[in-house]
Amino acid sequence: MKICDKLASAINDQINFEFTSAYLYLSLSNFWKEKGLNGIANWFGVQVKEEIAHAEIFINYVHDRDGVVNLSPINLVKTEWGSLVEAFTDTLEHERKVTERIYALYALAEEEKDYASRQMLNWYIAEQVEEEANVMGILDSLRLVGEDGTGLLQIDRELAQRTYVAPQGVKE
Ligand code: FEO
Repeated sequence: MKICDKLASAINDQINFEFTSAYLYLSLSNFWKEKGLNGIANWFGVQVKEEIAHAEIFINYVHDRDGVVNLSPINLVKTEWGSLVEAFTDTLEHERKVTERIYALYALAEEEKDYASRQMLNWYIAEQVEEEANVMGILDSLRLVGEDGTGLLQIDRELAQRTYVAPQGVKE
């Protein structure tokens, strides 16, 4: 069944927001790389790929439902951070915003009795729980070590281990 205009338009907005998320995390990755924290930069770099994948899954879905994808300009994002706690606090706030947006999409899918969209959004709902939990975990570690250089180096090394795994639903 063809997707209704209202839902297609809302998903198009979310596609833009996912690319905005990728842009924010690319900015964070670049910033920390330039500060010499390569592990932190790697973690945000993986985040960039995940956000692009989130956008791609929505794009594939709109096409599968015979809808049209309209790409719109991406807003400028923040480019400087005073500390790692600030960087990850921004990340958590951003992810909470994403979660709210996904919930709003779900509510719209319910209103439109679009069961396929509801089903598709379940994946994002679960993904957001994971996204927020990961960031909260990193923030806990950062607060624990405070200004301790050895602790920060340890966190940087741990975050260097993160690798990107393409989620199911991203077509090759
Ligand atoms: Fe696409 Fe980080 O949510």
